Amino acid sequence: MKFAPLLGLVAGGLAGLGAADVQPRNFDANDYYVLHLDCDTRPDDVASRLGLRHEGPLGELADHHIFSTAKADHNVVGRALQERRRKRSLDGAADVLDRVRFSQKQKLHPPMQKRVIPPPPPGYHHLERSPETQADAAATQRQQHVMKTLGIADPIFDKQWHLFNPIQVGHDVNVTDVWLSGVTGKNATVAIVDDGLDMYSNDLKNNYYAEGSYDFNDHREEPRPTLSDDRHGTRCAGEIGAGKNDVCGVGVAYDSKIAGIRILSKLISDADEAIAMNYDFQHNQIYSCSWGPPDDGRSMEAPGILIKRAMLNGVQNGRDSLGSIFVFASGNGAASEDNCNFDGYTNSIYSITVGAVDRKGNHPYYSEKCSAQLVVTYSSGSGDSIHTTDVGENSCSDTHGGTSAAAPLAAGIFALALEVRPDLSWRDMQYIALHTAVPIDLEGDERQKTALGKEFSHTFGYGKIDSWALVELAKTWEKVKPQAWFYSPWLHVKKEIPQGGEGLQSTFEVTEDMLKEANLERLEHVTVTMNVEHACRGDVSVDLISPTGLVSHIATTRKMDKSEEGYDDWTFMTVVHWGESGVGTWTVVVRDTKVDDKKGTFIDWHLKLWGESIDASKAKQLPMPSEEDDDDHDVIATTTAGAATTSLPPQTHSPVSSVEVPSDHPERPTKPSKPTDASQTTADVIASPSAAESEDGTVTAAESPADGTTTAESSWVPPFLPSFSVSPRTQAWIYGSLGLIVVFCCGLGGWLWWARRKRLRNNPHDRYEFEPLNPSDSEGPNSGSGNAEKGRRGGELYDAFAGGSEDEEDLDDLVAGDGRRSISTANHDDDDDDDEEEEGGRGERQSSRLLTGDRQ
Ligand SMILES: *[C@@H]1O[C@H](CO)[C@@H](O)[C@H](O)[C@H]1NC(C)=O
Ligand SMILES: *[C@@H]1O[C@H](CO)[C@@H](O)[C@H](O)[C@H]1NC(C)=O
Repeated sequence: MKFAPLLGLVAGGLAGLGAADVQPRNFDANDYYVLHLDCDTRPDDVASRLGLRHEGPLGELADHHIFSTAKADHNVVGRALQERRRKRSLDGAADVLDRVRFSQKQKLHPPMQKRVIPPPPPGYHHLERSPETQADAAATQRQQHVMKTLGIADPIFDKQWHLFNPIQVGHDVNVTDVWLSGVTGKNATVAIVDDGLDMYSNDLKNNYYAEGSYDFNDHREEPRPTLSDDRHGTRCAGEIGAGKNDVCGVGVAYDSKIAGIRILSKLISDADEAIAMNYDFQHNQIYSCSWGPPDDGRSMEAPGILIKRAMLNGVQNGRDSLGSIFVFASGNGAASEDNCNFDGYTNSIYSITVGAVDRKGNHPYYSEKCSAQLVVTYSSGSGDSIHTTDVGENSCSDTHGGTSAAAPLAAGIFALALEVRPDLSWRDMQYIALHTAVPIDLEGDERQKTALGKEFSHTFGYGKIDSWALVELAKTWEKVKPQAWFYSPWLHVKKEIPQGGEGLQSTFEVTEDMLKEANLERLEHVTVTMNVEHACRGDVSVDLISPTGLVSHIATTRKMDKSEEGYDDWTFMTVVHWGESGVGTWTVVVRDTKVDDKKGTFIDWHLKLWGESIDASKAKQLPMPSEEDDDDHDVIATTTAGAATTSLPPQTHSPVSSVEVPSDHPERPTKPSKPTDASQTTADVIASPSAAESEDGTVTAAESPADGTTTAESSWVPPFLPSFSVSPRTQAWIYGSLGLIVVFCCGLGGWLWWARRKRLRNNPHDRYEFEPLNPSDSEGPNSGSGNAEKGRRGGELYDAFAGGSEDEEDLDDLVAGDGRRSISTANHDDDDDDDEEEEGGRGERQSSRLLTGDRQ
């Protein structure tokens, strides 16, 4: 509605889109649905078939549209789609509903939380530690020189220690020489996604970028703060783009453009949040986000699927395909042992997660640690805060802080880099940030030398940002090749986690050939998606150990987290392994440190390696995520549960370490879990690619280079079999040969039978039509697959009776009665990867809310 920038129009036109849809919504009178349609389907046809109004496209998301209808107490679209699906087999006639790939009823949910300074923990006497006031004479002289040379007359510039610190010399972002070299953020644009931006502040108005701004809370062109509490976004904006003038101080990129995108002041839907994350994404280059799920040390919340899609769309298509740069505050829950890996925004590979360091170089009590944190920069602590612009014509703030203040500072520094190198991709920016970060030497902080020769600490990531070094490296940076990735199969464990210091470990061997096949040259991000059932989630911690012995603490214990929901297909992320080859044995160690009656089971995990491609010409574009991406737990090739080991990190390059059972643990056969003998394992594996093909066709299976053959390959060495004390390569050879013979001679008949069963089981439509809802039917070779399978049964029940049970209450009942997995599968039981329908109309956020019982 708002404007149609030329580039946006061109790009949008190419993708079959119009301008962003930012119609006001009326949730009192209407229901809103987002539908993802096949690309040649006319939204109007769908609208008239369903009796809906087509409101317009969903922002920049290709083929996603918003529809509305009068408010009803059930999901009218979900019902119609279900009805249609039931009839599809009987009725050969075409129906436009068959072109609907996904539907989600929109709900208003409370906005994300701002990362403001939380109260200090009891016993924290930060106020007593007032800052030193004695300035260094030489530094003060230097400060005067900078002000004079650049003509900085801003009244609080001398309080902006984060820009130039004459007291704790060196504890600032080292930017003044960047300015003196003429780099001040010209032509760079940062959108502050927050609670508004006071575009009438005299400090901000000249740099305000109206076309990139919008108010998604009140549906107005101007994201003007209206609530008394709406000061956060303006303060963040001031840190980036406050002008060089006679008001307050200056921004770190004081000639950059700043846009305001208001989403934090009222209830909002996932649809609007998704549009916001791509708003004017050809011109808004950087999205500064100082918010997220609650930092209470017990939330575990990820963005809903539409928001996930918007973020992927941003890095794929934003900024003329160079990729939007999403900057997120790590979170302020450190005092309650929160960790940014329990936040699905900060642990996304598409966001740069920024934590805080205070003016004395200390770790502020609030700033969350995690393996996904890339860098830190300055914010409140040690008795001082960040001094910046405030709401009002000439108002300043001296109380801004928390990781909320760190993220915009980083975003502003990235804007400086974009002034000199607007052609940097979203991944280039991550490289430059981590390469130039300065490690922080804090006593007692655990640091590791990574493959890049850089030190990483979970407290400070790769260290604090040095603006000078960052901009210098940007000038000469050779752009990296496109992204590639490798997915391991789902690795089935299903074992109780021993309590105490020991852990339960599971390994997966990545071979050179697998990565070659995946076109993956070297690592950047690594993610682990996993399922753990536990009676007290906060007791669990997880380490990921790379082939070279580097350790990522991907999950940590949290004393406040008493949830009984465990990890449900949760994806943890780490940047520790950046620069590694990825080849060798990867180990996951799950620990339950508390010896009590709250026990748990490590169900399964899934390793994903992301990095730079070998051959840029073979690079592919990652398909849009769906709710089902991690649901295909039947793609299990290996069972790698080993007994606990106490000596961690384990021997580097130890061959399939999980097999070496300490003598005090009698060898437990890896019984009840899925593969019960070798031929079945192999059958399982062989069946997977074909099953995946028949179901998924285009999406996960076909388009991820790592799937298919890799799955089969890796499985020739199920590590629960003897290792013969030879190298993995030799094992692979032995088992490869043996396996081939055994399988083909003995297992072929069984496999054919089993593969067909499996295909039927996996294909929801087939299942629907041919499989009776009979519990005994789940018995057979697959019966041991445990929870995932149970979840699927829950899904079947749900689907079968869904005509009358799609209302929330019924779903809740079902969840309560059928255990934790049932909701996720009930909710997206349809395994057709790109043919999903969210009958319940709940996004991932909603389901994750339901799954974590202790959410407020
Ligand atoms: C800060 O910037 C200067 C140039 O102004 C540069 O020489 C120096 O290496 C940078 N970093 C530090 C930590 O001083
Ligand atoms: C800024 O962008 C404009 C147009 O996009 C271009 O003409 C100009 O040269 C750019 N300025 C700088 C300093 O890069």
